[in-house]
Amino acid sequence: MTGSPRRTPGVAAPARRQPAPGAGDLPEAEEKTRAVRAMFDTIAPRYDLVNRLMTFGMDVGWRRRTVRALGLPAGSAVVDVACGTGDLGRELRRRGLRPIGADLSAGMLAAGDPTIGRVQADAANLPLADAAVDGATCGFGMRNFSDLPAVMAEIARVVRPGGRVALLDVATPAGILHAGHRLWFEHAVPVIGGLLSDAAAYRYLPRSVAYLPEPPVLLAMVRAAGFSGVNRHVLGGGVVQLVTGTRAGPPEPGAGRGEPARR
Ligand SMILES: C[S@@+](CC[C@H](N)C(=O)[O-])C[C@H]1O[C@@H](n2cnc3c(N)ncnc32)[C@H](O)[C@@H]1O
Repeated sequence: MTGSPRRTPGVAAPARRQPAPGAGDLPEAEEKTRAVRAMFDTIAPRYDLVNRLMTFGMDVGWRRRTVRALGLPAGSAVVDVACGTGDLGRELRRRGLRPIGADLSAGMLAAGDPTIGRVQADAANLPLADAAVDGATCGFGMRNFSDLPAVMAEIARVVRPGGRVALLDVATPAGILHAGHRLWFEHAVPVIGGLLSDAAAYRYLPRSVAYLPEPPVLLAMVRAAGFSGVNRHVLGGGVVQLVTGTRAGPPEPGAGRGEPARR
């Protein structure tokens, strides 16, 4: 499902992101959306395997941390934006939460766990009513979106006031880890991905980091979308970042039931 993104009422639309420095010839806008969807359709069957190998299994712990950071009680409805094969959804369910996955790629959804509720949808146009859920997660999705501020505004629209957001993505470590991480991420990962899955996709992966705004810009974007108490935590020695926040505004009676939008 695609379409023009809807903005959160009362929240100014954040300025559209400029092309990321170093993005070079990376695609933008509709061309990016098409390329990203096709790429994930292609790598879906072996996505989980390559993920485990290239993170030495640490991605499991990062997802656990993401779900814990929501701090929501059991029974809360949580939309997992760009859910892929559903790793975060499984972790949400394991913690007693009620996940609803949304992803653009039919291939990723088909390769995932069929027992987790999910829908094929663009993150910038979620098929959920305003304030329908108690929280939102997004694992390694942010750098793949064509219009990140629009996705943030859409997440803010569907999360009830007082609800929580936890956004996980890659980061670039500083200091001593920087060189080792570059070697691994920019050279080893494309080789492993090429052997087990699709070489072009795993060459794109390290380059796609250029789409992510610098931390202060990313945090400002999340705040501008309507979240308060926005924080950034680095995990795995700085190779991953977790951004958390609370949907600003007074709680609405009856919110957070995870109801689909009537459109
Ligand atoms: C790196 S995978 C992450 C999957 C999963 N969240 C995880 O933690 O493993 C990125 C996912 O973002 C999805 N995606 C990219 N652009 C999207 C969009 N505009 N709307 C919804 N999903 C999108 C892709 O299809 C893919 O499944």
